[in-house]
Amino acid sequence: MSVNYQLEKSKLPKHVAIIMDGNGRWAKKHGKDRIFGHHHGVDAVRSSLELCGELGIKYLTLYAFSTENWGRPKDEVLGLMSLLVHAIDNETTNLIKNNVKLNTIGNNNDLPEDVQMKLQESIDRTAHCTGVTLSLALSYSSQIEITEACKKIAASVLASDINVDDINPETISANLFTSEIPNPDLMIRTSGEQRISNFLLWQLAYAELYFTDVHWPDFDKDEFCKALEVYTNRERRYGKTSEQVKQ
Ligand code: FPP
Repeated sequence: MSVNYQLEKSKLPKHVAIIMDGNGRWAKKHGKDRIFGHHHGVDAVRSSLELCGELGIKYLTLYAFSTENWGRPKDEVLGLMSLLVHAIDNETTNLIKNNVKLNTIGNNNDLPEDVQMKLQESIDRTAHCTGVTLSLALSYSSQIEITEACKKIAASVLASDINVDDINPETISANLFTSEIPNPDLMIRTSGEQRISNFLLWQLAYAELYFTDVHWPDFDKDEFCKALEVYTNRERRYGKTSEQVKQ
């Protein structure tokens, strides 16, 4: 690891969420098709995951495919789905070796059957792992996630399982795909765009945001450490004063 950052371990995030952006621009820069960028994006997934393991960051959530991405050219969508199948096939043994538990968030049923099957196989094979939990957001839309949570809660009210007055933020959280994982502490977006793009809108309420111009395939351990160093120097106040949080 070519990393020289002085990272204070106690200040590291527990959960990092990443919008992996810029694969297409990276490919163009190299005079190649967009899918070439996605292929190289898998290397950046591997190194980010490795770094989380090395530093004891327990949760990594990656925005791999949004519901809006279904609208991309057919070739690119098919290429991404096939890449996913191959990546899961190639990496599952490594995930187990590195104690990584695979999880997905999003509307899995929208995915082609072979992708669903591969994912489920890998989820089952890594279910016992206790190191990093890697959540892949696939066919994911935060607005749909929240809408579905509202529908489930409304149904519980109609069935008299809960009272309207008992609905609180925890009720919403408990009905999201992420009910089993803590909210992200840090959200990184690569490739220069500074927006959240329908990713974890509820869960990012108090996350620190970090934006970098680096395209996702170039986001190596060194770049990840830079983001972590910035994070460790931030003061998270959760609406309180600086004096209060220093107490
Ligand atoms: C955004 O870049 C990237 C994606 C929509 C796909 C990300 C997928 C991978 C990195 C492969 C995932 C594989 C695994 C195993 C998780 P973009 O295409 O929007 O780039 P652009 O903005 O430059 O066009």
